[in-house]
Amino acid sequence: MNLRQIDSPRAPTTAQAVSFPATILAPAKLNLTLDVLGRTNDGYHELSTVMVPVRWFDSLYFEPLAKLGGRAGLINFSLHGSGRNELVPANESNLVVRALQLLRERSGCELGARVSLVKRIPSGAGLGGGSSDAAAALQIANRGWGLHWSEERLSALAAELGSDVPFFLAGAAAICGGRGERVERLPRGVPLNFVIVKPEDSLSTAEVYRRFDELKTASAVRRDKRTIASMSCDLRCGAVGNFAAWMSNSLQTAAASLSSWIEQVERVFADLGFAAHQLTGSGSAYFGICRHAGEARRLASIIKSRQLGLVFVTRSCG
Ligand code: C5P
Repeated sequence: MNLRQIDSPRAPTTAQAVSFPATILAPAKLNLTLDVLGRTNDGYHELSTVMVPVRWFDSLYFEPLAKLGGRAGLINFSLHGSGRNELVPANESNLVVRALQLLRERSGCELGARVSLVKRIPSGAGLGGGSSDAAAALQIANRGWGLHWSEERLSALAAELGSDVPFFLAGAAAICGGRGERVERLPRGVPLNFVIVKPEDSLSTAEVYRRFDELKTASAVRRDKRTIASMSCDLRCGAVGNFAAWMSNSLQTAAASLSSWIEQVERVFADLGFAAHQLTGSGSAYFGICRHAGEARRLASIIKSRQLGLVFVTRSCG
């Protein structure tokens, strides 16, 4: 079981020693590659994508509760934080509540929970915030309810909730296939420094894929084993000077046709000399990779003066 980081009144010294109530951090992600290879039988798109978790966190408080009265009271959910907006439901349709209800149903668990989500990761951004929250909910409930589900079993449930949820359960940089749910962890690498901009516009993942189809965008060529090995090698040793040669995002043109902000942001990033830069996921957030933390801070302060949106400086984690 791979709990990423838990803060609790008594901080755990080992993964086994979690006391409840507890709070788990749910990171954002960035897609360093996103190749759309074709369509899957269920109408989704077949992907190959390299994703890294980054230190931009929502946090999820979880307090197990003994059996409560009515069904509606089983998960007592509240939503807070600066990332809270109309795209993030504050009721039972939130992915956190759906994840917990699904886990209760499948495990036969009769306990409830008081759950409080502090949203900081912007939604409609391609940063995976909702999926990360759902993965965090599955992990912490597995512990808090004493279910002892294996990572494989949780991961299968996670895939029912969303394509990116299994990646967040893995808690490390990974190359993901299928519709995103087949996760292969990559070797741990040196932390990478990023500047992320979230423009005012938010984008719907489904709409970006629809536009991708409308534009009849050609499928990406499947990368061979040697290319994947050399990407993995660059990631492990933080050879950011090589990243521009292999980073790409098949969804960027479709996303840019839905939001004019994306090309504006791209132009500014291109002028500033980032090691590499592109859209993350289906957007609208855009990121650049820097050679060191000082460069990230310097470029972020220039970008802030251009008023392109919310600017965030961060590092990879996991
Ligand atoms: O799986 P998730 O709920 O994150 O996907 C949101 C939407 O994005 C899906 O309903 C689908 O329209 C689109 N999608 C896709 N192919 C993928 C992942 C997502 O077409 N591999």
